[in-house]
Amino acid sequence: MRTPLIAGNWKMNGSLSLVETFADAVAERGVPATVEAALMLPAPFLSVATRAFAGQPVALGGQTLYHQPSGAFTGEVSGGMLVDCGARYVLVGHSERRELFGEDDAAVLARVQAALTAGLTPVLCVGETLEERDAGRTEAVVLGQLAAVFDALSPDERPRLVVAYEPVWAIGTGRTATPEQAQQVHEALRAHLATYDPTLAEGLRLLYGGSMKAANAAELLAQPDIDGGLVGGASLQVDDFLAICQSAG
Ligand code: 13P
Repeated sequence: MRTPLIAGNWKMNGSLSLVETFADAVAERGVPATVEAALMLPAPFLSVATRAFAGQPVALGGQTLYHQPSGAFTGEVSGGMLVDCGARYVLVGHSERRELFGEDDAAVLARVQAALTAGLTPVLCVGETLEERDAGRTEAVVLGQLAAVFDALSPDERPRLVVAYEPVWAIGTGRTATPEQAQQVHEALRAHLATYDPTLAEGLRLLYGGSMKAANAAELLAQPDIDGGLVGGASLQVDDFLAICQSAG
């Protein structure tokens, strides 16, 4: 059985006081024992969050990393630094990184490998633009992004990832993929994973992201190949985030 993972991605939002608000709310209200909750925070918040969430059922993660372990790379953050600050996860290949910061498939692969070397769980994000969907290229795009990473990994490394399907047209737009649209892509992703190894496909968690909120989480999470969510905007509201965690329980 795959344990559902609800991961909040704060992007470049929030504050240290919001970290404390979340930690207090989780301490008071908890998260269902059958669900794993995580928050992908801006790197400067991680150390404080690690202390605030100590002993609580919320894992922490970074939103990106550089592929080198250290050196003269002003402004960048390494996997080892994220681990040092208490992170267990890191997002890699988010569409905002691909589009705004020019990270191509080779850069994404290098970051996944660096995350694995540091002992982090990479959450590999894949997703098509509206133009690609309208051109009937959804599966070709997302399977291409998946293969660009998974082809290069060893059989021991592949099970250490989480994959998130985030249609670019559904991110921050309020326009969610229908449960059927999302399930169709998740099924294709899992079928591709099965070409490496059926056990890998059975065990790997596939998250959906793109305008997931308390009102639509349950029907998305009810799909057989959707094992959790990567939640942007709604993860900044503690009531919404905890409600989504409840829907996964
Ligand atoms: P929204 O939930 O705000 O659409 O963002 C999704 C996302 O990009 C999570 O990584």
